[in-house]
Amino acid sequence: MQALLLAGGLGTRLRPLTDDLPKPMAPLGNRPWLESLIRHLKNEGVSRFVLAVKHFPEVIERHFGDGRRLGVEIVYAREETLLGTAGAIKNAEAFLEERFLVVNADVVHLIDVQPLVRFHDMRRALVTIGLTEVDDPSAYGVVALEENGRIRRFVEKPRREEAPSNLINAGVYVMEKAALRAIPPGREVSIERETFPALIDAGERIYGARLSGYWKDIGTPERYRAAHWDLLDGRFALPLLPPEAEPGIRLGRRVRLGKGVVLRPPVLIGDGVYLGDGAVVGPYAVIGDGARIGDEAEIVRTILWNGAAVAPSCTVHDSILGDRAETPLGLIIAGAVIKLGRSARSLAAVRPERMEAPVPGKAVARP
Ligand code: GDD
Ligand code: MG
Repeated sequence: MQALLLAGGLGTRLRPLTDDLPKPMAPLGNRPWLESLIRHLKNEGVSRFVLAVKHFPEVIERHFGDGRRLGVEIVYAREETLLGTAGAIKNAEAFLEERFLVVNADVVHLIDVQPLVRFHDMRRALVTIGLTEVDDPSAYGVVALEENGRIRRFVEKPRREEAPSNLINAGVYVMEKAALRAIPPGREVSIERETFPALIDAGERIYGARLSGYWKDIGTPERYRAAHWDLLDGRFALPLLPPEAEPGIRLGRRVRLGKGVVLRPPVLIGDGVYLGDGAVVGPYAVIGDGARIGDEAEIVRTILWNGAAVAPSCTVHDSILGDRAETPLGLIIAGAVIKLGRSARSLAAVRPERMEAPVPGKAVARP
């Protein structure tokens, strides 16, 4: 099976974290979400991938290359100008097989692919849209379904009171290549605002199938954080998550713990993390690979990306620290999103480590 992953959007709502990063490359549980998505789809029988890229394509291409490392085949459809969700699919036409999967790469979901494909084949659909239910559908594409699963209407981001249902487009489609005839080439086209409504109006066989399992759009800092807490709470599992050392405490490899460190579950500590004497981490904290937490620092409901550093005596609540971002000594922050600029990141890479080697100790888990 082949999948086209839409990975070219701007990710404006996750700024500044996505200022120089394609949104699907934002880490979830210390690993780029896009990588976990590809690994999951591989387990579901997808072996060939087309990545539709636009912003910072080099970040994606450097990470995945031709896919061999993950045991899949990856080709890239690059866009000079932003072509929109349908334009990006049209742009990839030369790579596409007769029937393929399309996935919005910025949505965290681990869907069962085969039941969706079987549904699609049984209905002889032109397009089958995976659906999920949410309380407020106004930020999504919303459908009106007939009993047999055929879609009567598709409206993108309607006002809440005008939404025809609570069933929304989950950003996963099974498509026949013939559907691409409805997309004009060479200009920006939205599949949600133009192509789906036009195909439905033309009486084409457009179906919707409810997906089961975890689903969350991580497009805003709140939802990005919420997806992490769901991960820590075990609402979904990612491939390659570090094992639980104690209930609710996932510890990576080569973690160095100072004296009197307190880990309050649930927490996820990445590989090579250093926790200074008396540091308190959690509840709800994800600490990126190689991150450093100074003595007596406290990290609660916070996500640290790889290599971030919290100086001694800092209190960090409800925040996100980007790659290699650092806090000054004794800072108290809540509700912040902090990112180190690109030039400063390359300087940080050559600067010697500031913190001293830890005194070996053992973590105490306290609920
Ligand atoms: N290659 C490429 N080129 N990718 C694009 C482009 C483009 O021009 N524009 C958007 N994308 C990618 C984004 O990176 C994202 O993975 C996906 O297409 C959807 O675009 P978003 O901009 O994130 O749309 P949205 O989140 O507002 O709404 C979409 O997702 C919802 C589910 O989360 C729509 O498909 C809604 O109908 C849907 O409910
Ligand atoms: Mg989105």
